[in-house]
Amino acid sequence: MSIRGHSEGITMSGGGLYSLATIGAKHVIDAATPMVVDAINSLPQENFAEGFTFSDMGTADAGTSLSMIGKAIDAVSARAPDVPVSVVYSDQPRNDFNALISNVYGLGPFETYLEQRKDIFPLVSGTTFYRQIVPAGTLDVGFSATAMHWLSSKACNISNHVQAVGAEGEELESFRGQAHRDWRQILLHRARELKPGGKLVLINFARDQQEHYLGNTGGVNMFDTFNQIWQTFLDQGRVTRDEYANMTLPQYYNTVEEFSAPLEDTNDAVFQAGLRLEHIDTRIVKCPFAESFAEHGDAARFAEEYIPTIRSWNESIFFNALAEDRPLQERRQTIEDYYNTYRDMVSDNPEGHGMDYVHAYTVISKQH
Ligand SMILES: C[S@@+](CC[C@H](N)C(=O)[O-])C[C@H]1O[C@@H](n2cnc3c(N)ncnc32)[C@H](O)[C@@H]1O
Repeated sequence: MSIRGHSEGITMSGGGLYSLATIGAKHVIDAATPMVVDAINSLPQENFAEGFTFSDMGTADAGTSLSMIGKAIDAVSARAPDVPVSVVYSDQPRNDFNALISNVYGLGPFETYLEQRKDIFPLVSGTTFYRQIVPAGTLDVGFSATAMHWLSSKACNISNHVQAVGAEGEELESFRGQAHRDWRQILLHRARELKPGGKLVLINFARDQQEHYLGNTGGVNMFDTFNQIWQTFLDQGRVTRDEYANMTLPQYYNTVEEFSAPLEDTNDAVFQAGLRLEHIDTRIVKCPFAESFAEHGDAARFAEEYIPTIRSWNESIFFNALAEDRPLQERRQTIEDYYNTYRDMVSDNPEGHGMDYVHAYTVISKQH
């Protein structure tokens, strides 16, 4: 684990591009909004006495969660009309917090909730979710979407693939162990933060019962495609064996059983800290670019729209896999060529491509 405990070397696209490129992530959060509202409706009334605190962990530029938070604030107002509402946005220190500020304060392309009522206090933190983000016993509802699959560090390099979904044997075990330890750590910190009776609504990438996961729901497997192109670059001598292996995403997609384990094992410190699993289900949110391609049928347009959404979250990992002593321009060109290859592949043969989202929607409560 890195000293600071945040996922080293990963950043989302900056300059507000993240939310523009990832409309699918907004659909995921919109689908979770009723869970957030229900969580607020279920809080003990006394919890509103001294203020309401909501956190959005791994928020990126905050654009995808603005409308959900607006609805959460309405739900709080219905329970306690004048209570001050703090919204704590957190992400890693290298996140583009300027873009976040622009979006929250209405300077970006999205509508914000800030004018919805008085006494709304957005607060911004660069603390990783592998640490405690807010003071103990102050959090009412903790939220996170599409972020906690990023491990605190890379368990190992994967020798034959770019993501744990393609790992085998000891390498897979290593990722599984790391993910288990990380998930427990995330939960233990949240257990400290929550007020008794408080709730977590965590929407995380998952492997569902059919072994579906992000970009693998029956069509072309997106992660296998990443690997296939990277492997071709290795075969062509464009990346070295070390660079190939370095491109290992520090991620893991838990199953429902893996998410549930520390919340159901009565001997686990997470269970003993008072956290209880109230609800977990898996859902697929369709790739908006593939859906729109099904209507317009223009393969080149699909490829142009689809590749940036992938690029927004994995470009930094591909780039950082390349040896630092290679000229910057050469590294940039390699990455450019990588995504252009992917784009041409989709454009030439678009059928089955797409990044359907597969998430576990989880509600966790802290006992009174
Ligand atoms: C795919 S984006 C999701 C953004 C937003 N929550 C959404 O659903 O649209 C993942 C975010 O998680 C953040 N992240 C990754 N590891 C993190 C960590 N250890 N602590 C806090 N944020 C982290 C990344 O920086 C990135 O902004």
